[in-house]
Amino acid sequence: MNVLCLLGSPRKKGNSADMARAFCDAAAAAGANVESVYLNGLDAQGCQACFSCKGKTETCVLDDGLTPVLAAVAACDVLVLATPVYFGEVTAQLKTFIDRTFSFLTPDYARNKDKRSRLTPGKTLVMLLAQGHPREDLFADIFPRYQYFYNWMGFTQSHLVRACGIYHPGDAAARDGLLDQTAALARGLTAAHGGGR
Ligand SMILES: Cc1cc2nc3c(=O)[nH]c(=O)nc-3n(C[C@H](O)[C@H](O)[C@H](O)COP(=O)(O)O)c2cc1C
Repeated sequence: MNVLCLLGSPRKKGNSADMARAFCDAAAAAGANVESVYLNGLDAQGCQACFSCKGKTETCVLDDGLTPVLAAVAACDVLVLATPVYFGEVTAQLKTFIDRTFSFLTPDYARNKDKRSRLTPGKTLVMLLAQGHPREDLFADIFPRYQYFYNWMGFTQSHLVRACGIYHPGDAAARDGLLDQTAALARGLTAAHGGGR
């Protein structure tokens, strides 16, 4: 199983990074190939709405730090999006990546629901969300929104691990059972995808 884990927080040792590490370490220990990308360190642009990917080309024409990341998505079985909640959304670093995945949608994606994606179907999306506010009803829309769009792209399975009321670095690690739950998800997915194959 190939895991691609995208780190959306600027904090390298923050809460979502700790959740991502728990996932990646458990997946690697179970035999998965794991690659993590610190998005904040990339020189990358958002989608320019040039629509080249809906006419002239099969891939995004921008050539920057996200180019190899988009190629790695095509090769992954499990895509992990780890992010804090910023103003009720994913971080700008992660949203920049998400907008560039517009290039995975076919020119006919809006009309032909059987041919929406250029990606091989059967991939799994995992979101790891860290939010400061303790109320679970707040910002609960983030995961279903991306689950919906990524399903179009061939991510037919999706899973969420969400921690509310965690604010400072170390809070996720101190939350009872959170990292164990995250690691257990990684082990389960690795087994389901055939371990290291
Ligand atoms: C710019 C900014 C915006 C934030 N916006 C929200 C928010 O809308 N809702 C919320 O619950 N927490 C918000 N937070 C708190 C973070 O979600 C919280 O500290 C989280 O644990 C950080 O995760 P990290 O350590 O992985 O970066 C915000 C933090 C920052 C720095």
